[in-house]
Amino acid sequence: MFNPYFLVTFLYIALGILGALDASLVNFELLPMFAGLRWMRIHFITLGALTEFAFGILPILVAARAGAARPKMRWDIWLMLNLGLLILLIGIPPINAVLITAGGTLIFIAAILLIVQLSGLRSSAGASQASEGRKFYIMGLAYLLLGIIVGTGLWQGWSTWLQIKVPLEVHIHANNWGFMSLLFAGLLIDLYPSFTGKSLAWPKSPTRIFWMMTLGALGLILGPWFEASIFTVPGIVLHLSATIWLLLNVIKPLIGTGKLSTPGILHLVTAYFWILAPVMMAPLVLLQIPGIPGPSIEQNAPQALIYGWALQFGFAIIPLLLRRVFLPDSPAKLGGNWFSLIAVHLGGVLLWAGIFLNDAQTALHGAAYGLWFLAMLPIAYEIWQIISTAMGGLQEQESLPTVAEAGD
Ligand code: HEM
Repeated sequence: MFNPYFLVTFLYIALGILGALDASLVNFELLPMFAGLRWMRIHFITLGALTEFAFGILPILVAARAGAARPKMRWDIWLMLNLGLLILLIGIPPINAVLITAGGTLIFIAAILLIVQLSGLRSSAGASQASEGRKFYIMGLAYLLLGIIVGTGLWQGWSTWLQIKVPLEVHIHANNWGFMSLLFAGLLIDLYPSFTGKSLAWPKSPTRIFWMMTLGALGLILGPWFEASIFTVPGIVLHLSATIWLLLNVIKPLIGTGKLSTPGILHLVTAYFWILAPVMMAPLVLLQIPGIPGPSIEQNAPQALIYGWALQFGFAIIPLLLRRVFLPDSPAKLGGNWFSLIAVHLGGVLLWAGIFLNDAQTALHGAAYGLWFLAMLPIAYEIWQIISTAMGGLQEQESLPTVAEAGD
């Protein structure tokens, strides 16, 4: 049952909590000396918590859906991912090209090995029961590969020979619209029946949603790559339509059941509002409407996206999956409570308010990070409880007399 990915996930969630607290204190000017943590704060969550968790859970989930035995722990993949992460954590602050390239390369190899492992799980278990989400995971990981290449070369001039016009946006889009969106969609599709007891509203729609998201993400990457709206506009339309279709799939069967007003489902569904917010702003920024602070949006919107959408999705899904792994006899329950729900959204509202109200920006951003810090606490506690209950159960089993001893 011991899975080192989950241990590291917990470690990075703890670091993510400290990172949000740090950002809050820095904005309130109570803590000036750690202001250089910008890269780490985002990547503790994206790479440290969410990617780490995905690497741990995907083989287990895909094998379980295919009716196969739980796959053996792949220490090679774990080591590559975690060595890569560590090397990046050391190499990014001083912008050391050799370390950044080494870290990015190790994570790249880990992602390829995971793709190979997930691809192999179908052939060994037979295609009939294969996980519907598997193709989403594999395509999402393929986009991660692209995100890693662009991210690794971001400060090393690789974009010049790759001819990328707006490299940071390409990096963010490949990882968010490509990797995370496809990963989350696959998880929703695979896990929905377990936590609702129902099927999606349109059970045949996932394959179409998959292609719409895949092509939509491609458009959203090629757009900033060539700085051409001929790619961005159809990309947004395809990706958003697929996301809305996915959410309607989730919401429709729950109407009238009372489940739509539980914090867990609300975390999952309303998290997507924070992916819509920058999309709704994009035309106003592109048209340079007066009063729309384009540069401030570009600088701060990614934070709201990561905390409001990606992290919040994790609030609901990570405890659900950990219960499934560690406490398989307990009922399927999404994570989160009313406090985490309200705090995470209020944080997003204040962050966006700070983008528009320049004079109050530091106070509003300080409060936003403070709220995100608070929102993470109940989730960390919930995860801790799941793991300690499972460990308690194990210890009890170990202390029970064996059959032979009992008979003595
Ligand atoms: C090997 C993997 C990765 C490397 C080397 C990398 C590298 C970078 C670099 C150098 C930046 C620029 C930071 C700045 O301008 O201050 C950046 C920004 C960013 N990355 Fe990554 N990244 C990686 C993986 C990811 C992943 C997996 C995600 C999301 C799923 C992600 C999301 C972001 C976001 C949202 C930003 C913008 C942060 C901001 O504006 O503060 N990155 N990344």
